[in-house]
Amino acid sequence: MTEAVVDVHLPDDHAARSLAADVLTGLTATPKSLPPKWFYDARGSELFEQITRLPEYYPTRAEREILATRAREIAGETGAHTLVELGSGSSEKTRLLLDSLHETLSQIVVLDVSETALREASAALSAEYPKAQVNGVVGDFTEHLDLLPGEPARLVAFLGGTIGNLLPVERARFLASVRAVLKPGEWLLLGTDLVKDEATVVAAYDDSAGVTAEFNRNVLHVLNRELDADFDVDAFEHVALWDAENEWIEMRLRSTRDQRVRIAALDLDVSFAAGEEMRTEISAKFRRERVAEELSTAGFVLTNWWTDAEGRFALSLAKAE
Ligand code: AVJ
Repeated sequence: MTEAVVDVHLPDDHAARSLAADVLTGLTATPKSLPPKWFYDARGSELFEQITRLPEYYPTRAEREILATRAREIAGETGAHTLVELGSGSSEKTRLLLDSLHETLSQIVVLDVSETALREASAALSAEYPKAQVNGVVGDFTEHLDLLPGEPARLVAFLGGTIGNLLPVERARFLASVRAVLKPGEWLLLGTDLVKDEATVVAAYDDSAGVTAEFNRNVLHVLNRELDADFDVDAFEHVALWDAENEWIEMRLRSTRDQRVRIAALDLDVSFAAGEEMRTEISAKFRRERVAEELSTAGFVLTNWWTDAEGRFALSLAKAE
């Protein structure tokens, strides 16, 4: 068995520096906002795992259903030699793909910002798929795609609907950067949540057990710990609302009173008015035409569109032109 190779493309202080920069930008802007990537410390990742098991949170189950049904078709269509997963590759969904790609697959590449998650996932994948060379790349999918190794034909998988966390301009830039690392004829497998009735989407982001609320507030714990801030986490309420014009869910944290927060590491004091809301995430929902159009703008052609039986979530297979 070949051991997994892990390459670190982020300096040790990358996370700390980019968190500081993001918080400074987001908390001094009007309205205030924080990027969703900072939810995922150990506790945040655990809370997200819990979210995926909630009755209201359908995307994970819907995407798994599609992969379970379509993995063989994906393997047949792409004949991929390398699976590149953007994300740690630790999921059961990755296994569904890998198990059907076994006839052609010689290499697995996983990219994640978390070195710990990546080392664990790479070692596990290497043990489970001993015939494949496993490469872990520590990097940010919005910045380090040019460093991805792998033999053609590669299949880049970006699952879970995470592309919905990007604003439209960021999405266009991201898709173009994926296209830029691929040769014509290589593949992108993209998971997108779909536009549906408002009540279903809102419930998925405002569950009755309050797990999503905890997940949302967790970002304040991250700031308290990493930036020596003094957020009174209980003085912020979870808000999830449907933006019908942009067709995205927006998560916010609402200050329940006038308050002032000190962020010592940035030497910054920030005031929140009672009722003031700070955006912490957008999660865009898609229609087929929009996915096809955005893929086409980036230089891909949509070859397959699959949804779960209830039509809640879609997997798109796209070929680089
Ligand atoms: C992991 C980004 C796909 O947007 O649905 C879950 C994160 N936020 N509940 C999503 C999330 C609130 C999730 N993604």
